[in-house]
Amino acid sequence: MTTVLTYGTFDLFHIGHLRLLERLGAMGDRLIVGVSTDEFNAGKGKSTVVPYDDRAAIVGAIKGVDLVLPEQSWEQKRLDIVEHGVDVFVMGDDWAGKFDDLADLCRVEYLPRTKGISTTGLKEMLRVLDPNHVEEMQDALRVVSRLLDHYRDLT
Ligand code: CTP
Repeated sequence: MTTVLTYGTFDLFHIGHLRLLERLGAMGDRLIVGVSTDEFNAGKGKSTVVPYDDRAAIVGAIKGVDLVLPEQSWEQKRLDIVEHGVDVFVMGDDWAGKFDDLADLCRVEYLPRTKGISTTGLKEMLRVLDPNHVEEMQDALRVVSRLLDHYRDLT
């Protein structure tokens, strides 16, 4: 029986997340996913659109995911690996090399990310709906409009 473990935020769950979990599911018999809590993310200066309970519920509903646990600290990985008898620790290759120190406990692997999609990219797209951004755009339009009036007065 091969147990696979990974961690992530999985905010605004997207196709890159799904493809990663599918590949992880195919790597073993049991897949455990540590989903970072809102408090852990806040400590990293990161906020999410979707709160922890919902992110954990979505990840837990994906076929092949057997257990979701909260990721609350950087240190817990070693404890989780031992407690759950993990054979393979896997992360996307944006983390390549970062967790090689865990190789004394289990196999450590990094999988290529799905190209062209990220939570950061989705958040950028959603930013157009942000009231502050809309206000910035309105300010910019007012400046352009004043410049046009000024140009008209000159001609
Ligand atoms: N992942 C992936 N392919 C993507 C995006 C993410 O394989 N296109 C993987 C990451 O490598 C990680 C896991 O999915 O192992 C969770 O990633 P997460 O950081 O939650 O998502 P990102 O979309 O990478 O979010 P961000 O843009 O905030 O880094």
